Amino acid sequence: MKRIVVLASGRGSNFLAVASAVSRGMINGRCVGLIVDRPGTLAAVRAGEHGIPVFTIDYSVFSTKSAYEEELIGTLRSLAPDLVVLAGYMKILGSGIIREYVGRIINIHPSLLPSFPGLDAQGQALAYGVKVSGCTVHFVDEGTDSGPVILQRCVPVLEDDDPGILAERILAEEHIALPEAVALFCSDRLRILGRTVIRLPDDSGEQVPGSL
Ligand code: GAR
Repeated sequence: MKRIVVLASGRGSNFLAVASAVSRGMINGRCVGLIVDRPGTLAAVRAGEHGIPVFTIDYSVFSTKSAYEEELIGTLRSLAPDLVVLAGYMKILGSGIIREYVGRIINIHPSLLPSFPGLDAQGQALAYGVKVSGCTVHFVDEGTDSGPVILQRCVPVLEDDDPGILAERILAEEHIALPEAVALFCSDRLRILGRTVIRLPDDSGEQVPGSL
C-alpha cells in the first residue's frame, strides 16, 4: 500500500476527492498526511474529518523561501511518501524537493496543458476564446506545469461563461481525474518514457475510479 501525502493551499475539494476514493477502497494507498502552507484552510478541516494528520507550514512566518522549503522537505521526509499530490497547492516547489521526489510528485491543473499554465488558467482560457478546456494531471518537473501528462479531461467553454462558472465545470472533472491518476500510480500502472506517460494494463482485475 502506497503512502500518499497531499499538499494543498485552500478549499481542498481535490484532496477530499482523493481521500474519499481512498476511503472507498478505490486506491491502493492511504493518505498519511495533508500539508498546508497557511493556517485556517478548509482542506485542513476536511482532513480532520477523515482522521488524516495535518501539518501546517505557514509560509508567512518564514523569512526566506529556502527556509520554508527546508521545513517542508523535513516534514515530507518524516512522512516517507511514495507519492506527493499537489491538489490546489499554489506555490512553486523548489528544485531540491522536485529532485528528491522525481517521478513521485503529481499536480492537478485546471486547463488542457500545455495551454494556460500558471495562475488563473480558466480566465486565460476565456481571454483566449478557446471552445474546449479542461484539466490535466501531470508529473511535476522543474518547469511551471510542464511535466509529462498522465491524463486529461475536457469540458466545453460556453459563450456566456465567466471564470467562476468555467472553473466549476472543470472542477467536476478534476474530481474524477485526480483520484484516477492517484489510483493508477498506486497500482504501479504508470511509466514515464521521455515526455510520454504510458498507462499499463490492469492485470489484477482492479477497477480504477473514473475508468471506463
Ligand atoms: C483547482 O481548480 C486546482 O486545479 C487549482 O486550484 C483549485 C484548487 O481547488 N490548482 C491550480 O491552479 C494549481 N496551478 P481545491 O482546493 O478545491 O482542490
